[in-house]
Amino acid sequence: MVRSTVFGLLLLVGFASAAAAQDKAKGEAVYAAQKCTLCHSIAGKGNPKGALDDVGSKLKAEEIRAWVTDSKGQTAKTGATRKPEMKAYSLPKEDVDNLVAYLQTLKK
Ligand code: HEC
Repeated sequence: MVRSTVFGLLLLVGFASAAAAQDKAKGEAVYAAQKCTLCHSIAGKGNPKGALDDVGSKLKAEEIRAWVTDSKGQTAKTGATRKPEMKAYSLPKEDVDNLVAYLQTLKK
C-alpha cells in the first residue's frame, strides 16, 4: 500500500517534469513561429535591442503573460519607449501558456 503510493507519487513527479519540458519546447516553437526575434533576442540570436535573456528573473509569469496578451497595455503601463512598439498578439491560450513557460526559464 505505502509502496504503491510512493511509486504513484514518483510517477506523478516524473510526468510533471516531462510535461514542463514539453511546454518549454512548444513555447520555443511559438516564439520562433511568431517571429518575436524581429524585436527580441535570446542567446545572441535576434534583435539585440530587446534581449530577453534574463526575462525569467526580471519579470513574474503574470507580467510576461501581460506582454503577450496585452502589449499595448503593458507598453503604456511600463512607459516603454522603444520603437517599433510591441504589436498586439491574439494567440490561443495554450500557445500563450507555453510561451510564458519558456520565457520563464530564461535566467542569467
Ligand atoms: C515590433 C517589435 C516587437 C515584436 C515583434 C515583439 N516585441 Fe516584445 N517588446 C517590444 C518592445 C518595444 C518592448 C518594450 C520593452 C523594450 O524596450 O524592449 C517589448 C517587451 C517585451 C517583453 C517584456 C521585456 C522586458 O524586459 O520587460 C516581453 C516578455 C516580450 N516583449 C515578449 C515578446 C514575445 C514573446 C514576442 C513574440 C510573440 C514579442 N515580444 C514580439 C517589441 C516587440
